[in-house]
Amino acid sequence: MSSALRVAVVGATGAVGSTMLRMLREREFPASEIVPFASERSAGKEVDSGLRVRALGPDADLEGFDLALFSAGSGTSRAWAPRFVEHGAVVVDNSSCWRMETDVPLVVAEVNPEAIEQHRGIIANPNCSAMQALVVLKPIHDAAGLERIVFSSYQSTSGTGARAVEELKEQAHAMLHDIEPPAPSIYPHRIAFNVLPQVETFKDGDDYTTEERKVIGESRKILGLPDLRITATCARVPVLNCHSEALNVETRRDLTPDECRELLADAPGVKVVDEPAHGRYPLASEVAGRDEVFVGRIRRDESNPRTLNLWVVGDNLRKGAATNAIQIAELLVERSLVSVS
Ligand SMILES: NC(=O)c1ccc[n+]([C@@H]2O[C@H](COP(=O)([O-])OP(=O)(O)OC[C@H]3O[C@@H](n4cnc5c(N)ncnc54)[C@H](OP(=O)(O)O)[C@@H]3O)[C@@H](O)[C@H]2O)c1
Repeated sequence: MSSALRVAVVGATGAVGSTMLRMLREREFPASEIVPFASERSAGKEVDSGLRVRALGPDADLEGFDLALFSAGSGTSRAWAPRFVEHGAVVVDNSSCWRMETDVPLVVAEVNPEAIEQHRGIIANPNCSAMQALVVLKPIHDAAGLERIVFSSYQSTSGTGARAVEELKEQAHAMLHDIEPPAPSIYPHRIAFNVLPQVETFKDGDDYTTEERKVIGESRKILGLPDLRITATCARVPVLNCHSEALNVETRRDLTPDECRELLADAPGVKVVDEPAHGRYPLASEVAGRDEVFVGRIRRDESNPRTLNLWVVGDNLRKGAATNAIQIAELLVERSLVSVS
C-alpha cells in the first residue's frame, strides 16, 4: 500500500495557499497527488507551475482525499471543511472558524504538538500574530512561569491577503508619483505611509478588535492557561510581509535577559538576534521567507519587577500560517494520525 497522501489545498490561489503549495514541494511532503481548489473565479487557472485549480462548488469531487489544507476564509471553512471530513480527509484549517471550539485542537507545532492526538477530523492553525509570540513565550513559561503579557503588534499587509498587498502597492506607487491614491477598499483608511490602530473589526461595540480578541483567547487556549493575564493592541503597518511584535512579559520567577537569551537560543523554531549596539535585531525585511521566529532587544522593563521586553518578528505567511500547517500535516503522518485511503 502506498504511504503517500492525496492532498487538497483549498484557497490555493491566495497568499497562504500559494505558500503552502510551494512548501509542500520544498519540504518533499509525501503526497501522491496535490489538488488545488479555489473559488469558481479561479477554475482552470495554473498554480505552482502546472497544477490546475478546481472550483469548490456544487460539482466539486471530494472523494479520495486523505488531507485537506484550508486557507480560504472562515465562511468557506465552515461550509466545506466538514464535507471533506465526511469524505474521509483530515482538515488543517488556517481560518478562525474552528479555533475556539472545545473539541478542535489548536496547535503550534513547537508548543503543543500533543494536542493533535485529540483531533476529530479538523485541526485549527492559530492566528498568525499569536503563533509567532507563542513560539517564544512557551519556553519562557516553562522556565519561569508567565504572569502577564502586554502584546503590541505591527502587522504586515500580506496578513490580510493578496488583495491587501496590491492595495498598499497601488497607493504607495500613486503617492510616490504625486498622483491621488486610489480610495481604500480593503482597509478602512489609506495604508500607504500610514499606521492603522485597527486590525480586523470592532464587533458588537467591543473596544478591542477581533484580532486582539483572537490573540488573547488563542494564547490562553494553546498554553492551557485560561486565566493568563494578557492584553493586546494590534496595528497594521505598510510592510508587505512579516509581523513585528513588542512583548512585555512578566514572569513568576525572575529571569535575567542573559538567561532569557540562553533559553531562547535553545528553543525549537526560535532564532535570537540581539546585538543592538551593532544594529543587529530582528527586521521584517530580513525575516521574510524564513520559517523561524526571530527575537531580539531582550531587556529588563525597569518599571516593573520580573518583567522583560522582547522584539519578536515572524513571517506571517510562513510560520504564521503555511509552515505551521505543513508541520501539523507532517506530525499527522509521523504519528499515523492520518490514513491513506
Ligand atoms: N495572510 C496571512 O498571513 C494569514 C495568516 C494566518 C491565517 N490566515 C487565514 O488564511 C485564510 C486565507 O488568507 P489569505 O491571506 O491567503 O487570503 P487571500 O490571499 O485573500 O486568499 C483567499 C483564498 O481563498 C479562496 N476563496 C475565496 N472564496 C472562496 C470560496 N467561496 N470557495 C473556495 N475558495 C475561495 C480564494 O480563491 P480565489 O482566488 O478564487 O478568490 C483564494 O485562493 C484566511 O482565513 C486568513 O484569515 C492568513
